[in-house]
Parts: sequence; C-alpha cells; structure tokens
Amino acid sequence: LDPRRSNGDLWIQIGADDALVAFHALRALQKEAAGQARLRWQMNGFNRTPGATARPMTTRNLMGQVDGTNNPRPSDPDFDARIFVGRDTDQEWMRDGSFAVVRRIRMLLDDWEKRSRREQERVIGRRKDNGAPLTGGSETTPMRLDETGADGLPVIPADAHARVAAPESNQGAAMLRRPFSFHDGFRDDGAPDAGLLFICWQADPLRAFTQVQRKLDRGDALSPFLRHEASGLYAVPPAAAPGDYVGRPLLEG
Ligand code: HEM
Repeated sequence: LDPRRSNGDLWIQIGADDALVAFHALRALQKEAAGQARLRWQMNGFNRTPGATARPMTTRNLMGQVDGTNNPRPSDPDFDARIFVGRDTDQEWMRDGSFAVVRRIRMLLDDWEKRSRREQERVIGRRKDNGAPLTGGSETTPMRLDETGADGLPVIPADAHARVAAPESNQGAAMLRRPFSFHDGFRDDGAPDAGLLFICWQADPLRAFTQVQRKLDRGDALSPFLRHEASGLYAVPPAAAPGDYVGRPLLEG
C-alpha cells in the first residue's frame, strides 16, 4: 500500500451523474476549505452511464464481470444492524453512521484477459455473461456451495472469489459494496493503470471488511490478478437533520 495515497483526516466522496457537476462541486469545496485543509490524495471513479441500459441492471467492472449481485439489501431484516452503527455505541456522534473502507485495487488486465472465459468464471464462481452462480439458475439464484460435480470436486471451486468472500465463509460477515471503476491511463511498463475503486460500508469494519480481506488474502483465486495500492478507513457520521450539518455532535459535542 502506498502511504502517500492512503488514509488522511477527512474523506469526501462527490457523486454526480455528470462529471462536470462533480468537478464543480470539488472546486467549490476546495475554495471554501482553502487555508484549513488541503488535498492529500484524490481518485476519479466511474460507473455505468445513467440510462445506458433499458432497465436497471447490476453494473460490470473492468474485468467484465457482473459485480454487485450479492450485496445486503435495505429490505433484509439485518441490513441496518450490518451497515449502520447501533444506538448502543459509546461514540454518540457515530450513532446511525457507518464505516467506509476505500481501496484502490489495480487489475492486472493483461494477465486476466489471457485466461479463457471458463477459467475466468472459475476464479469468481459465477458466469461471466449473466452473473449466475456456476451451480445454475439466474443472477439472483443463491450459490449452492456444497454441490459437487462428476469429478467429486465442488462446482464452485474452493478458492472462487464469491465463495471465499461470502458471509457463509466468514461467520456471517457482510458489507455493502459500492465500488467504482477507475482508469488513470497507463503505467511505465505499458500496462493499463485501471481497476476497482473499492468502497464498502459496514457497522463494524473489523468484523466485516477486515475479516473478509484476511480470508481473501489466504486463498482467493482472484488475488493473482489484483494489486491493492491505496487504502483508507473512514468514520462517516449520519446524515444531518434539516438545518443541521454533518458531524456537528462530534465537532461541537
Ligand atoms: C478488484 C477487486 C475485486 C473484484 C474485481 C471483485 C469482483 C467480485 C465479483 C465479480 C463478485 C460476484 C458478484 C457479486 O456478488 O457482486 C464479488 C463478490 C463479492 N466480493 Fe468481490 N471483488 C473484488 C474485491 C473484493 C474485496 C477487496 C472484498 C472484501 C474484502 C470483496 C468482497 C466481496 C463480497 C463480500 C462478495 C459477495 C460474496 C457473496 O456473498 O456471494 N471483493 N466480487
């Protein structure tokens, strides 16, 4: 991890359908903050253009995979407990807030694209065309992690990314992934400087991101195609009530 573009005191995420609007918002904030704060590191990310598909669909990442399928949903009974800091916290200013992990993960796309589609699908444990689990069905069909093939081996390989990252493999740990793609041109070696601006939200980063990342580090078939280059962990206070501002209980408490 590159310390020059990791961590920092304050994280701001600016989002807009139109990149020009996002840029203008950044400039307005920089102007207001001049003399008080300065930029330490910055990244530009993008997602599918609004309206590019006829109906809402899970986006693809730069490896071409459908990415974001098995995310906690607001309708899940345990969504709030998994994603938002509870009322029982001793840090009052973080009640109903959330913790964000932000990582720059470069993809080794030259290596990735040499692999056959079948190999790529075994790395993730899902089909590339529609994101369905290798055990069948459609994108939203649950993975059948204990199903074995005629060769006696698991259909979703033991080191498949989706298996190793799943709550079932991590004592129930889950996080809300809200990543973006990035493309910063090319590197000195000619390889694309591109990948995933990984962002995930959770109530407790030790029990969610850290737990899962440690597990991935030990045996994720996707790891040989990735380089984690920058990282930050940020406490994000809850939204402000009308007339109030974000983080007031912390700053004035
Ligand atoms: C460039 C890096 C990464 C890529 C390209 C990637 C790609 C994917 C894809 C294609 C899926 C399957 C579809 C889905 O459910 O969204 C997936 C699932 C998942 N990934 Fe990643 N991932 C990356 C990094 C990470 C990291 C760093 C973590 C957490 C430490 C993570 C956690 C998860 C989780 C929790 C799931 C859902 C597993 C399940 O419950 O089925 N991923 N990822």
